[in-house]
Amino acid sequence: MNKHGLILGFMALFAASALAQDAQRGALAYQTYCGGCHYERVHDRPPERSVVKSRTMLQAQVMRWAPQTRHEFTGDEIRDIVEYLDRTHYRISE
Ligand code: HEC
Repeated sequence: MNKHGLILGFMALFAASALAQDAQRGALAYQTYCGGCHYERVHDRPPERSVVKSRTMLQAQVMRWAPQTRHEFTGDEIRDIVEYLDRTHYRISE
């Protein structure tokens, strides 16, 4: 691998682990604030019964329901939860 490839490789690795950290923070935020109305398995519906068809729609749903909790979410927390739900349930970004 030449120097350029090595740098790109490190960048990809770094991006992947940063996303994994986002998802971990998202898991914690979800479990802390989002459990009031539904179990997490609401996100495991068959795709035809879910309102979430894309990453944008997933984000819209998270933002739609966030104000219904007693917590004021930051943009980062919203993003972390989207990353978490995408990775563990919807798998849109795979
Ligand atoms: C006040 C109650 C309430 C709270 C709190 C709540 N939700 Fe929900 N959520 C709902 C209801 C009701 C639905 C629609 C369920 C249905 O269609 O049967 C829903 C649906 C969803 C869906 C779409 C499910 C699908 O695939 O069709 C997502 C994603 C979601 N909620 C995320 C969240 C997140 C993230 C939080 C925390 C920030 C949260 N919800 C907190 C009531 C709530």
